[in-house]
Amino acid sequence: MRYNTKINTVLALETSCDESAVAVMRSEEGRMVLLAHKIASQVEEHSKWGGVVPEIASRRHLEVLPFLVQDVLTESGCSIKTIDAIAATVAPGLAGALLIGSVTARTLARLHKLPFLGIHHLEGHLSSVLLSDNPPKLPYLVLLVSGGHTELIEVKEYGAFHRLGRSHDDAAGEAFDKVARLLGLPYPGGPAIEKLAETGDSSRFSLPKGRVSRKEGGFYPYDFSFSGLKTAMLRKVQSFDDLDNKHLLADLAASFENVVVEVLVQRTIRCALDKNIESLVMVGGVAANKRLRKMMSDLGKANGLKTYLAPSTFCTDNAAMICAAALRRLELNLGASSIDLGVSPRWPLEKSDSLYCSPAPF
Ligand code: KG4
Ligand code: ZN
Repeated sequence: MRYNTKINTVLALETSCDESAVAVMRSEEGRMVLLAHKIASQVEEHSKWGGVVPEIASRRHLEVLPFLVQDVLTESGCSIKTIDAIAATVAPGLAGALLIGSVTARTLARLHKLPFLGIHHLEGHLSSVLLSDNPPKLPYLVLLVSGGHTELIEVKEYGAFHRLGRSHDDAAGEAFDKVARLLGLPYPGGPAIEKLAETGDSSRFSLPKGRVSRKEGGFYPYDFSFSGLKTAMLRKVQSFDDLDNKHLLADLAASFENVVVEVLVQRTIRCALDKNIESLVMVGGVAANKRLRKMMSDLGKANGLKTYLAPSTFCTDNAAMICAAALRRLELNLGASSIDLGVSPRWPLEKSDSLYCSPAPF
């Protein structure tokens, strides 16, 4: 296996769910320069079914990935011969979908004798903030809000991820998707609710903020629960006969969006202040939400915290964030993965270092 002493150009593949994505990135004097990236979204196809159909997702990844790799290499001005390492998301996600990206990446790595890095999808999201013009310095607290996860993660050093809060039921993105379906909006629900909410009155409906009780009394201060909110929305929707009324729909969307945003921002800031963490980071698909971005920045500032948001284009799934995670690991000499590393639909972020161990954990 060829290990360059100076590994600086990485090709990365992301296929954990319903986006096939490829990117090429180079490290230039410590700066990450994105040379090209592409995303082939399958959203339209899945929206017919109201959510992601795993079998369709795998098939589409298989069909588009070879062309995407070729296109991105051409656009980046690189050839496979000028790539120094290959990365792919290996966990968590849909097993069949992950397998397509991982097998493609490992085949290229073996064929061209390049190091392979299996990346944890959530570490990819965490690394998306490194793509901003002003990336944060460690330590920081990350609010990771996506379709599958809502977590508060303390990062003291790269690779050492410590979870301080989580959702006990639905992830925030999942709540957006389910409530959108109640309102008759398309999948994915987040952008659809955000658009509708623009003209709505966010104070019209009072909705629950979902607290998680402790057995010994009180609440977990940094945890989330969105299932009660979803039920409250169902009740509201059922109580109206005129759901096709544009104003009513917009007010429902705005009230829902507002309560989710308030809960996310309030608990994140409380956690940062309690733990004396001065820098806040926000990543993941829901972090593209404009109301959430504004409230997190405004309230973060008002509380004396530095706030760093992943660029909106790199909040939802993409391969640039997988490149960034791989480059950061290579820069820090944290090692490459075994070429035999498989995929795992579930794997905790805290164990992401094990993806670089031999023998491979899965
Ligand atoms: O990070 P992501 O692309 O995939 C996962 O890893 O889950 O996140 C997708 C989620 C979906 O639930 C989608 O509805 C939500 O992010 N989302 C948004 C917005 N854009 C995407 N939620 C609220 N507002 C948005 N603008
Ligand atoms: Zn994701």
